[in-house]
Amino acid sequence: MPKPPRRPEGKEPIHVLVVGVGHLGKNHARVYTELEGVVVEGVVDSNAENAREIGERLGVPHFSSLTPELLSRVHAASIVTPTPTHADVASQCIEEGVSVLVEKPMTSTSEQARELLALADESGVTLQVGHIERFNPVVIAAHPFIRDPVYIECDRIHPFSFRSVETSVVLDLMIHDIDIALNFVDAPVAHLEAVGARVLSETEDLASARLTFENGCTVMVKASRVAIQKSRKMRIFNKDSYLSLDYIAKTGMLMGFKPGFDPSQIDIQEMAKLEEDQGAYPLFTKYFSIEQLHVASDEPLKNELQSFLLSARTGREPVVTGSHGLQAIEIALQIQDKIREQQRLLEEHRDSGEALPEDSSPE
Ligand SMILES: NC(=O)c1ccc[n+]([C@@H]2O[C@H](COP(=O)([O-])OP(=O)(O)OC[C@H]3O[C@@H](n4cnc5c(N)ncnc54)[C@H](O)[C@@H]3O)[C@@H](O)[C@H]2O)c1
Repeated sequence: MPKPPRRPEGKEPIHVLVVGVGHLGKNHARVYTELEGVVVEGVVDSNAENAREIGERLGVPHFSSLTPELLSRVHAASIVTPTPTHADVASQCIEEGVSVLVEKPMTSTSEQARELLALADESGVTLQVGHIERFNPVVIAAHPFIRDPVYIECDRIHPFSFRSVETSVVLDLMIHDIDIALNFVDAPVAHLEAVGARVLSETEDLASARLTFENGCTVMVKASRVAIQKSRKMRIFNKDSYLSLDYIAKTGMLMGFKPGFDPSQIDIQEMAKLEEDQGAYPLFTKYFSIEQLHVASDEPLKNELQSFLLSARTGREPVVTGSHGLQAIEIALQIQDKIREQQRLLEEHRDSGEALPEDSSPE
């Protein structure tokens, strides 16, 4: 039986641990030390030298292993170890009544995710999953303008980082956009198609998928971790408006029909003349309103950790629940399976001289 959840009393500070202080975990530890009402009991890393370096830099205790005694001193922990270890490390914390923020992807398999979810439900601790884009000010600014989208395009293109290569680009990067799409579209996924390829890793470095939702919305997602430059964009088409988001530039644009706009009243002759004389922009502004979204300058990780600690303190349902983490993994794994099936069929037919299987790849 897991121990009951440990939550701070009243205004008592919340005591936290960060497990895994590599590339991302050291930032979790840094942000916790910057927050009011938070005591960092320590950083834990199986690489003792790593733990020492980060602990000394931040002036907090450091440990090379997680023990029940250490866990008995904290209310909450960030699990920022490599994905294949999430299930084990998070279970150890939950067994001791410690609320957990588990980095994305929540686990390597959906079975592990379901087991973790069941353990957290049994114990009553807070289980949040690190889908950080939910806390990105660009997404927060766009959220009020999402109205039954009919079509969404997401591009997430990164240079090769040599990290997380044991995980495919689908579970590593695309899963961020899968989670946002599942959050924006209020319907289950009815059908999905995917293609992809390995370039530098043992797992897929490139992937492209088309998700069709039961309400008719289509989501096109592309991810690469072998690009020269970074680009992260999302375009959302509602029935009567369009949003263009740039996560890197931290900008968002909303375009909508002007009040009283009636497509049947458009004067095509006038439009053609206007475009010839002045380009497309004045044409758009005649019929459409265009506004820049107000995007706050907050650090997404700070928003995420503050939100997690509020849930860990009060028991309030987290913004990104374990069920959200599981749904994102299930879709990501289906995409990965489709890519591998497509690759297998292509390899089978490569030298056989037979016709290739019907191409069902997204555009
Ligand atoms: N939310 C995001 O945008 C985002 C970004 C990057 C990484 N991540 C996720 O964060 C996790 C860590 O990624 P990273 O890039 O920081 O990896 P990393 O390899 O840089 O760091 C992982 C650290 O965990 C330590 N470690 C390994 N096993 C451990 C264990 N059992 N106990 C304690 N320490 C252990 C390693 O020594 C290492 O220092 C991954 O799940 C990754 O998918 C999320």
